[in-house]
Amino acid sequence: MAVTKKEIRFGIIGCGLMGREFASAAARWCHLLDLDFEPRIVAVCDVNAAAMTWFERNVPTVGLTTTDYRKILAHADVDAVYCAVPHNLHAQIYVDTIRAGKHLFGEKPFGIDLEANQAILDAIHQHPRVFVRCSSQFPFFPGAYRIAQWIREGRFGRIIEVEAGFWHSSDLNPLKPINWKRRVATNGAYGCMGDLGLHVLHIPLRVGWRPKSVRALLSKIVTERPNQSGNMVPCETWDNAILACDVETGDQAFPMLLSTKRIAPGHANTWFIRVLGTEFSAEFTTKNPKRLASLPYTAGGEQAWHAVDVSYRSAYPAITGGIFGFGFSDAILQMWAAFCDELVNGPQMRQSFYCATPLETAESHRLFTAALESQRTGQTVRVAHLVD
Ligand SMILES: NC(=O)c1ccc[n+]([C@@H]2O[C@H](COP(=O)([O-])OP(=O)(O)OC[C@H]3O[C@@H](n4cnc5c(N)ncnc54)[C@H](O)[C@@H]3O)[C@@H](O)[C@H]2O)c1
Repeated sequence: MAVTKKEIRFGIIGCGLMGREFASAAARWCHLLDLDFEPRIVAVCDVNAAAMTWFERNVPTVGLTTTDYRKILAHADVDAVYCAVPHNLHAQIYVDTIRAGKHLFGEKPFGIDLEANQAILDAIHQHPRVFVRCSSQFPFFPGAYRIAQWIREGRFGRIIEVEAGFWHSSDLNPLKPINWKRRVATNGAYGCMGDLGLHVLHIPLRVGWRPKSVRALLSKIVTERPNQSGNMVPCETWDNAILACDVETGDQAFPMLLSTKRIAPGHANTWFIRVLGTEFSAEFTTKNPKRLASLPYTAGGEQAWHAVDVSYRSAYPAITGGIFGFGFSDAILQMWAAFCDELVNGPQMRQSFYCATPLETAESHRLFTAALESQRTGQTVRVAHLVD
């Protein structure tokens, strides 16, 4: 008997790199097994009309293309919006979307700065029936997903330390042209932290590891880049950030080292997490995406790292055999399944790792704001939490 699926009609605002990723994930929804929900992209918007051509050619369900995002918000057939635009536009477009009563999947950092993030959170508070989440796909890699489960199961004993990072290297090339991600006006003063930081924080914040204080070391390495005409212009944003945080949970205190780097030679989209504990340690990196390493320990016993190929076992079952590999676009598909599942089924969603919440983005903004102050003053700075 055919399963009746709840269809979620999406409008996409911002048809660049990430807008296309979502459209591709929606196009292969049949990859996922036995779901009772399904996204359908019915409208797209980009100020650059040429960016919508790909959608017109490849997404037959699109009935509306527009350069004015307000037309998406006014469209009765749109239930939810995916918004993937430069950071300086997050506050305006996210708030307008929420006020229009459309569910929202926003991109990080969820506001260009703390004030913008607060404006988005205020709008959510005023419209409690609107469902809002923020994109962050790396925890859906099978190895990362397993580590998050192990943390929640309390396997690690006393935490010794945590290290997590997200590293890129294409900016090592001084000839790479400038774009909006290298300008403070469009990317924000956080620089690489705003761009990459929520990815690094998603699992730590989810399991309650909120930094209490931070000492930040921020680097600007390439200070000029060519523009479209080949003239050198300032490259203003922080390239790399190392954040030494101290975490206190109810019963433990431990150091957590977070790093976001645009210039980590040799690394292309390397996301990793390493948790060391007195009873168990574990490590996963997208550099070696099948491999999950762990070290169980009992007093006086041997200390041996074990490595297993976890392959294709993520949150939502898929047609891909468990023996096959898992990649970036699979993580995007899994994240979208989590968003749609929670939107349709709420707390009864099929698995419990939900997408990053607005409150988690707010915690990340508080950390990045404190990190900027730490860099300015050379001091360790206390992070102002939402709820202490
Ligand atoms: N989750 C991830 O892994 C990931 C990866 C890259 C980027 N991002 C995030 O996604 C967002 C977009 O980044 P991107 O890499 O897709 O950028 P992009 O530059 O490839 O695409 C942005 C698009 O927004 C369009 N745009 C600008 N102003 C607009 C407006 N007023 N209305 C409609 N469209 C408008 C641009 O023309 C462009 O096509 C950012 O928040 C970024 O941080 C997330």
